Amino acid sequence: MINLKLEIEGTTALRGKISISGSKNATLPLMVCSILTDDLLILNNVPNISDVLMLANLLKQVGVEVIYLEDKKRMYLKRNKIQINLQSEDVHKIRASYYIMGALVACRKNFKTSYPGGCSFTKRPIDYHIEAFKSVGYKITENNNWLIFKKKKINNKNHIFRLFQKSVGATINIIYISVIRKASTIIKNPSLEPEVLQVIHLLNKMGAKITILDNDTIEIVGVKKLNGAYFHIMSDRIEAGSYMLLAAAVDKSDIKIENVYLPHLREVIKTLQQLGVNVRENKNSIEIKKDFPLKGIQKKISFYPSFPTDLQQILTVVCTKAITPSIIMDTIYPKRVSHVAEIVKAKGNVEVIHDKIYIYSSALEATNIYAHDLRCGFACIVIGAIAKGCTTIDHVEVILRGYEDLINKLKALGLTIKIM
Ligand code: EPU
Repeated sequence: MINLKLEIEGTTALRGKISISGSKNATLPLMVCSILTDDLLILNNVPNISDVLMLANLLKQVGVEVIYLEDKKRMYLKRNKIQINLQSEDVHKIRASYYIMGALVACRKNFKTSYPGGCSFTKRPIDYHIEAFKSVGYKITENNNWLIFKKKKINNKNHIFRLFQKSVGATINIIYISVIRKASTIIKNPSLEPEVLQVIHLLNKMGAKITILDNDTIEIVGVKKLNGAYFHIMSDRIEAGSYMLLAAAVDKSDIKIENVYLPHLREVIKTLQQLGVNVRENKNSIEIKKDFPLKGIQKKISFYPSFPTDLQQILTVVCTKAITPSIIMDTIYPKRVSHVAEIVKAKGNVEVIHDKIYIYSSALEATNIYAHDLRCGFACIVIGAIAKGCTTIDHVEVILRGYEDLINKLKALGLTIKIM
């Protein structure tokens, strides 16, 4: 991948209108559902971002025919004969490649794959996924960085999985491996983030029998086979939240964000209001108006419906604009702090003590900063937007993994920005 740089001029005012794209973290597992059927799957509102394109490439290597109509944001996926060797460096480039493992286990294939990659802002284990694959009858060994999956005695009995901690990826993988089975499966302590619900919704449309019994249990009654389906992907709550926070950081903002689903943004809206930002809700859009200094906040990051970990790094930058100190505690990824060094480079007064980030009022100054990972990258954009002078951001390609049409959307809000 080429190394992209971006230059951004600090500003004191944002004004304009943008529209939110389809959800990245829903699209990825929805695409992988194509492995579970030999019928056609059509996905609508698919964002044109590099993570989606990389996963499409991997799916082609597995034997799925993928056609992506970028202008219509529509993707056609049709599984042909499954290829079982995922001996590709591409697996290493994207975290969501673990979904392909789950889908191949669901199809009861023997295969070999490398470790999933993706944003490495902290240690991101896949032990829950591996345990689940083993419990349906797989032997998994490691050899020279390859994981070798061998089907042993397939478990056809009713099964209960209890997740030690809520995990989006592990919940979706357990759903995949349970939908086509001769028995029933219960998942205790599943993740019920909106992205997981999208996967459940699509699989049920494909003929699966998945029910959320209460807020702590998913029941899956196995079926013989799944059909094709057409599915419209929800808008990206994290992309929406990123631009809402950008508007909160700049001194004077008056922006409109269209194509948002407000129920998914409740805690983000509440946080903006706690900071002192004026938020106006319409049916499918939101307006952010700000011309007062921010107040410091104390925010604990946890699972949905709490404030999302994917917005924690961006919120940290916003809090440098508050006149009183803020404290952020990310209980999902306490070590997701790659952005802190970048804020400090821009003369921000931020420190990490144990599992908390302490943020003090700072006047950021333009400098050269580095996008270590996707959300750190958007946090760097917010640093650039509020720092005095012209900020250069390195390693911008990681931001394009998850934000569709990033440069045009930022320009539409009035930012002076150039990609090199
Ligand atoms: N965990 C384990 N073992 C596992 C799996 C998870 O210990 O086998 C722990 C993690 O270390 C973490 C917690 O469980 O502390 C939750 O992690 P989760 O499994 O939910 O994360 P994920 O499924 O790998 C997805 C998103 C992330 C997002 C997290 C949390 C995708 C492709 N990725 O990751 O999105 O941060 O859920 O909401 O959906 C991003 O978009 O920037 C991003 C990193």
